[in-house]
Amino acid sequence: MELLLFLLCLFLSFTPAENEAVCSRPQLGANVEIHGLQRIYSPGAELRLSCEEGYTPVFGPHTIVCGASGAWTATKLICTLKRCPYPNQLLNGEMLYDDTTYRSVINYTCHEGYILTGSSSAVCQANATWSSDKPECRPVTCGLAPIPEFGGIIYDRIVRGNTTEYGTTVTYKCLPPYASFGNAEAKCTASGTWTKTPTCQVVTCPPPKNIERGYMSNNDQRNYDYMETIKYGCTGDYELEGSQEVFCQKDGTWSARPSCMAPCRVDIQRGRILYKGEKIWIKNFEPNKVLHKEIVSVYCMNEDRNCGYAIPTQCIDGRLQLPECFKEPSDIAYKFNSGSLPSEIEQC
Ligand SMILES: *[C@@H]1O[C@H](CO)[C@@H](O)[C@H](O)[C@H]1NC(C)=O
Ligand SMILES: *[C@@H]1O[C@H](CO)[C@@H](O)[C@H](O)[C@H]1NC(C)=O
Ligand SMILES: *[C@@H]1O[C@H](CO)[C@@H](O)[C@H](O)[C@H]1NC(C)=O
Repeated sequence: MELLLFLLCLFLSFTPAENEAVCSRPQLGANVEIHGLQRIYSPGAELRLSCEEGYTPVFGPHTIVCGASGAWTATKLICTLKRCPYPNQLLNGEMLYDDTTYRSVINYTCHEGYILTGSSSAVCQANATWSSDKPECRPVTCGLAPIPEFGGIIYDRIVRGNTTEYGTTVTYKCLPPYASFGNAEAKCTASGTWTKTPTCQVVTCPPPKNIERGYMSNNDQRNYDYMETIKYGCTGDYELEGSQEVFCQKDGTWSARPSCMAPCRVDIQRGRILYKGEKIWIKNFEPNKVLHKEIVSVYCMNEDRNCGYAIPTQCIDGRLQLPECFKEPSDIAYKFNSGSLPSEIEQC
């Protein structure tokens, strides 16, 4: 009983005078900072509120007052994390970040062949700015590409001064009789050096050989230089097939030579043919010659419908195959009844 009384006295002694109410510490949202923190406040006391570092206040008011009834006036103040501006893209590099709020970190890296100049990371500061400017990714540079003794190079872009940027490509060209051996292209690599460049070496071809039934534009029996050319032609009625001009190739051989293809004889004794749009009796076809690749038609009979029709065949290097439907007329039919030949009757 005495203990209870003691505790009651203790309690009463801590309760402020009479029936005047007081305010206790206000319960506010996260990250709200209270200026002038005490255990209890008398009515009329004013508390200034703000946000912790890195946070922005939204809504308000920013002060609360302790009321006569012991309650604080209301505030809707909340503190939100500050946000740094979204960084623009890093040219030739990457940015890694999870967020852009206060204390977030951005990491910068450059693509292969580029060197980072500046800070490789930045932190979002309390005043919503990044701790460092965006770095730059500058290309690795190579010196000028080596120029071969007997050739030239062509850059794929304009080169200023005596450096070239990573990724620059040069194409090598040797001046005949030199030909390039190795990769005809070189690149400025990420390590700042050029890839292996080709060499220019002399190339010659043996004296060219003539083709059967043909001739050459040049009969010199000498070695020819790389890229030198000669022309071929055919004698008589032979027709050239393939490239008229051949050249000495990089491997010291000639490019494919053409061939001379033989003309054909239309091997029938009696009947008419269709040649270049003209119907000609074979005995009047003088000379009996069709050039390689030329087309000539002979006439066949359609027995069922009793009509004639022309069927084409082509001369291939001296061979003119007559169509299977073609039947050479007998001597008698040809001489005395030529009007009944497939070429003369109604056409199908
Ligand atoms: C940035 O780099 C640091 C150190 O290398 C690493 O600990 C952190 O995880 C990286 N942050 C991001 C967002 O990649
Ligand atoms: C932001 O804060 C940093 C670090 O305290 C300071 O160096 C910088 O000048 C501030 N920037 C602005 C715009 O206030
Ligand atoms: C590039 O040229 C400048 C002046 O023309 C010269 O001083 C420098 O040594 C050269 N650098 C290289 C790598 O050749």
